[in-house]
Amino acid sequence: MKNFYITTAIDYANGSPHLGHAYEKVLTDVIARYARMSGKSVKFLTGLDEHGQKVQQSAQKSGIEPSKFCDEQAEKFVSMCGLLEISNDDYIRTSQPRHKEVVRKILQDLFDKGEIYKAEYKGFYSARQEQFLQKKDMVDGKWPEIFGEVSEITESNYFFRLGKYQPWLVEYIKSHEDFIFPRFRAKQVIEFLKEPLNDLCISRPRDRLEWGIPLPFDENYVTYVWFDALVNYISAVGYGTEEFGKYWPADFHVIGKDILVPPHSVYWPIMLHAIGAEMPKSLLVHGWWLSSGEKMSKSLGNVVNPLELVDMFGADAFRYFLMREMNVGQDSDFSSDLFLTRYTSDLGNDLGNLLSRLLNMTQRYADSTVPSPDAPDGEPEITLKKQAADCAAEYFKLCDGMQFHIALERIFGLIRGINRYAELRAPWKLAKDESAEGKALLKTTLFTMAESLRISAVMLSPVMPAISGKICSHIGCELPKNFGNSLEWGETLSGKKVGDKVILFPRPAEK
Ligand code: MSP
Repeated sequence: MKNFYITTAIDYANGSPHLGHAYEKVLTDVIARYARMSGKSVKFLTGLDEHGQKVQQSAQKSGIEPSKFCDEQAEKFVSMCGLLEISNDDYIRTSQPRHKEVVRKILQDLFDKGEIYKAEYKGFYSARQEQFLQKKDMVDGKWPEIFGEVSEITESNYFFRLGKYQPWLVEYIKSHEDFIFPRFRAKQVIEFLKEPLNDLCISRPRDRLEWGIPLPFDENYVTYVWFDALVNYISAVGYGTEEFGKYWPADFHVIGKDILVPPHSVYWPIMLHAIGAEMPKSLLVHGWWLSSGEKMSKSLGNVVNPLELVDMFGADAFRYFLMREMNVGQDSDFSSDLFLTRYTSDLGNDLGNLLSRLLNMTQRYADSTVPSPDAPDGEPEITLKKQAADCAAEYFKLCDGMQFHIALERIFGLIRGINRYAELRAPWKLAKDESAEGKALLKTTLFTMAESLRISAVMLSPVMPAISGKICSHIGCELPKNFGNSLEWGETLSGKKVGDKVILFPRPAEK
């Protein structure tokens, strides 16, 4: 069976991990976990983009070799993945031999086929962006800030024949509606492709940039970072070997909107087409986390350090917030106040208290054992069961459509429904009722609360794997590895011992 292959962008090694990196990994992880639970065999790749001018400069500033610098950076990024409970199966670094070999092989193949040629380049160059510029990139006669210092240079370089594939690419994007998600992003690509496409300069002279992959046919040059970095998606899964077909084409490349045009929507499809490989099935393009309306960036000093939040509130609470607040594809503004509100109200009050109450009451009124339902369903049970069934049915549609924020809204609607149900049935009153009906209804109530909480926990598990596991183990079951029929109402909890009282989301002060 072909694997469900999903990737994130590989992070630049020259910065520190921030909220944007964290979000992309969490989003990809949620999709990967959801796919695993849907019975797919998943390969989830993430990694580090190590070559290029900026990394070389950062290493120089720290007074160490680029490779040593990248080792240190890799440690930070890998450790972030661990803290965020990212379930990646592989971590690629572009300095690894397995990657460099594939980049060189592809370059040689393209060179042999005449797809790469040498020519003299005369024009503008931004060292900060490691990018050649044209007059049309100017705004009001000036180079935009993001390019830093722009100089005029003349040098010989190698070029990849991008331009000749332009008609093919336009046709491909127009005829494959699922290639770019959300769809409105495809329009931006088509818009970009209305201008004639220049061939891509894929080399940098070694006397300017040492830290890169040397071209196999001319060791005086190293490979342009984007040509190098994009190849990670295939070098990690054995391009050129029999293994490759088990993974490729990728199901999703998860990327931010800033790297769709041109790298992922123009360079990458054309590179793949030129080497005769299939297209990835979909580019999943997420928006940005903003801080007071601006993109977080080191130079603006408005970067949120995800690790501080994880440290204070736990990975699952952080993951919940990111997935609850971001409509995949749109931008979202980060606010600590909103984070705290979600933490105390959705997580602490609605979910955490529900589990505490249920455990408490089961301990006091049912000898710490989930009872079997004993009374016929009344109106409150019918209503809650219907809400659980509707929520489960909608859940798959919403997750398949990447609408995780709505799926979470619905699940928390169900959780509030369980709390309402508890208020209505008031087990603490039923416990005082000595009649047979009272006793039977108490059993039904405790069971109904436990079963609907179980279903909620299973649905929450791709987003909050540790918390969901904890809920399940406290109400006497295990988190299933597969959805199977686990979202259907059943009676498997009857007779199960519940765990001791637990505080799922302590107030920060209580930690
Ligand atoms: N190294 C390139 C990607 C090469 S992929 C073959 C790169 N690295 S990055 O570190 O700048 O960004 C990594 C990912 O994080 C990108 O998908 C980018 O869009 C995402 N984010 C960086 N800042 C972001 C936000 N503020 N919000 C959300 N994601 C953003 O680009």
